[in-house]
Amino acid sequence: MPEAYSVLFTASEADPFIKVGGLGDVAGSLPKAILNLETGTRAIDIRLVIPYYTGIKLPENRVQHLADFSVPYKREMLPVQVFSTVLDGLTVYLVSSEWIKASAKVYDLDLEHSARKYLLFSKATAMLPEVLDWKVDILHANDWHTALSIPFIQAFSRKPPKTVLSIHNLPFMGSETRGMLQDFHLHPSTDTRLPDWGRELPLPMASSAADQVLTVSPTYAREIMTPQFGCDLDPFFLSIQDKVAGILNGIDLKVWNPAADDLLPSVFDLQNRQQRIKNKQYLQEKFNLDRNDDLPLLVVVSRFDRQKGIDLVFESLKQLSWKPWQAILLGSGDPALETSSQALARAMPGRVHVENRYDCALSHQLYAGGDILLMPSRYEPCGLAQMIGMRYGCIPLARATGGLKDSILSYEVDPLAATGFLFNDATSEALSLALKDALDIYGQKDAWLRIQENGMKADFSWDKSALQYVNLYERLVKSL
Ligand code: ADP
Ligand code: GLC
Repeated sequence: MPEAYSVLFTASEADPFIKVGGLGDVAGSLPKAILNLETGTRAIDIRLVIPYYTGIKLPENRVQHLADFSVPYKREMLPVQVFSTVLDGLTVYLVSSEWIKASAKVYDLDLEHSARKYLLFSKATAMLPEVLDWKVDILHANDWHTALSIPFIQAFSRKPPKTVLSIHNLPFMGSETRGMLQDFHLHPSTDTRLPDWGRELPLPMASSAADQVLTVSPTYAREIMTPQFGCDLDPFFLSIQDKVAGILNGIDLKVWNPAADDLLPSVFDLQNRQQRIKNKQYLQEKFNLDRNDDLPLLVVVSRFDRQKGIDLVFESLKQLSWKPWQAILLGSGDPALETSSQALARAMPGRVHVENRYDCALSHQLYAGGDILLMPSRYEPCGLAQMIGMRYGCIPLARATGGLKDSILSYEVDPLAATGFLFNDATSEALSLALKDALDIYGQKDAWLRIQENGMKADFSWDKSALQYVNLYERLVKSL
């Protein structure tokens, strides 16, 4: 058995290079956490590979050009370049090509371009170990964008590595790649447990091909085996349940540390929590909201997508307009949701403020100054915002689904140990009822401070989960 083993971790985004949502947080922090874990057993040589989009932020002069190679496509050979850099000790490969360079951002509006770009990236990733003359024991892909690196590497390696697929968001299966596989010389899956339509889509194909399928919370692993969340793959996931598991995400406590966060007007920790209020005052002033320390400040930091139940927030705020509160909503995405959010802000001036954009600094400030973080997600594979909210003293009010259920202890269940509020139905009425209760408890200072303290003390570091990944990797390596 080898003394050390190697893992190639691949994703479409990774913080701090480029981030759109939680996948970026995970790809930017999990490999580092695994690398730094003191397991006492064998060393893990884990490295990350992401596409080299033009919008990637990199420390000056620290990128090294490693190799040029070509990826077979139709009857052509597409030129690809691989670069490397180092992030806190983690080797990061950046793969470039004409199609990747055409994207400043991560995901393109042009779905056909996006599909070809990620097929190319997945194939290039699968070729990387040979190009770099590096023996990879485990290939770990994330979501549909990189999923096909698994069948690709199995198709052309004499001794393929063990493979892991993490599902961060099941409904996004890569349907935009339909009809393109043969251009990259990849055959559809022959797994008869998959429905016909799934045999040529990246996420189902890789779920069939991978040695291990993971979701980002234990509850979501169970949910994808049900008709409600399974996106018509629930019978398939049930049939492969022995190789499906859920590991809860963590957050990078160095990035998300209210005691040393340069982006905050006022840093704080549990011992001097009273400093938190300055962040709320800063937000009230910045966005022309009523300046009142006692008004509960509701915040949303989210992609604007049906998944997130943002429409339910708009409805509930209208239903609860008779209660005292103010709200700041930060998020972008679905144009219809953006338009509705602006209409709400116009209808409630001085009370509701909306910023339809991605703003890292403002997100930190909202977690630090907000009182309640609204997350009424219709489904939530894990969710990181609620963990960040708890760490920053912004109490989450969320729907009891996926990772929200696994990471928040609801006041209703245990008022003394609670870290937030959970409700069940994906309706604005259910959200309003839960929010009304939470606003009432906001008025009971002792109870409120206790929930806040519980959340700020909760352990959302990667340590526990990273260990679970390592145990899984070791099991797979043993079976090589
Ligand atoms: P998802 O990955 O589904 O978007 P998560 O809760 O797992 O949801 O992660 C979202 C991450 O993206 C968090 O780090 C959150 O702070 C960040 N985020 C979401 N929307 C915005 C925004 N508009 N501006 C800044 N950060 C955002
Ligand atoms: C996805 C999910 C989110 C999860 C994130 C990171 O974007 O929507 O719930 O936290 O991936 O795993």
